[in-house]
Amino acid sequence: MTRKRVAVLISGRGSNMAALIEAARHPGYPAGIVLVVSNREAAPGLALARGAGVPTAVVDHRAFSTREAFDEAVEAHLLAAQVDLIAHAGFMRMQSDAFVTRWAGRQLNIHPSLLPSFKGLKPHQQALDAGVRISGCSVHFVTPELDGGPIVAQAAVPVVDGDTPESLEARILAAEHRLYPLALTLVATGRARLEG
Ligand code: GAR
Repeated sequence: MTRKRVAVLISGRGSNMAALIEAARHPGYPAGIVLVVSNREAAPGLALARGAGVPTAVVDHRAFSTREAFDEAVEAHLLAAQVDLIAHAGFMRMQSDAFVTRWAGRQLNIHPSLLPSFKGLKPHQQALDAGVRISGCSVHFVTPELDGGPIVAQAAVPVVDGDTPESLEARILAAEHRLYPLALTLVATGRARLEG
């Protein structure tokens, strides 16, 4: 089995990134995390990645005047590391359509809601405002539509009386840490793939 070479893109805490790194430590896992790229130098996830011995790169979006130029700078790191797949993990940048098209079927994102519900910002608050009794998380292929690509895997998480955005976030995050390694397995082994 050839392990797929995966880059994780982050902007912050990096707990999903850490879950993927942990899963990929097992020799039978079909992917290895070969690179972590952050658009923020201060992202706490960078220290976690370095501590786990994973190479990191920082590409500060503020240094680029266009989305395309930022994406190309990130891509230079991806190509140098011979990356097969990209996993967004709390990566809070929209990418240019050109980049998304080049990497179609090779980019995953995790979002803390049962898509297509509650796309975009503050999904936990959106779920509470809507009064749903079940929320969850979704891993999907990245397409130009924000949080709108084909879904690879989902996990359902109950909403309980008295939940705040923070308490719901913590419950869903625990499910994310189980779901993302599973979804990456499906894609790395070809059992889930984007067609058309
Ligand atoms: C996660 O809950 C992830 O699903 C969410 O940001 C958090 C990042 O946490 N992503 C989005 O909302 C993307 N639309 P982490 O940095 O600890 O993985």
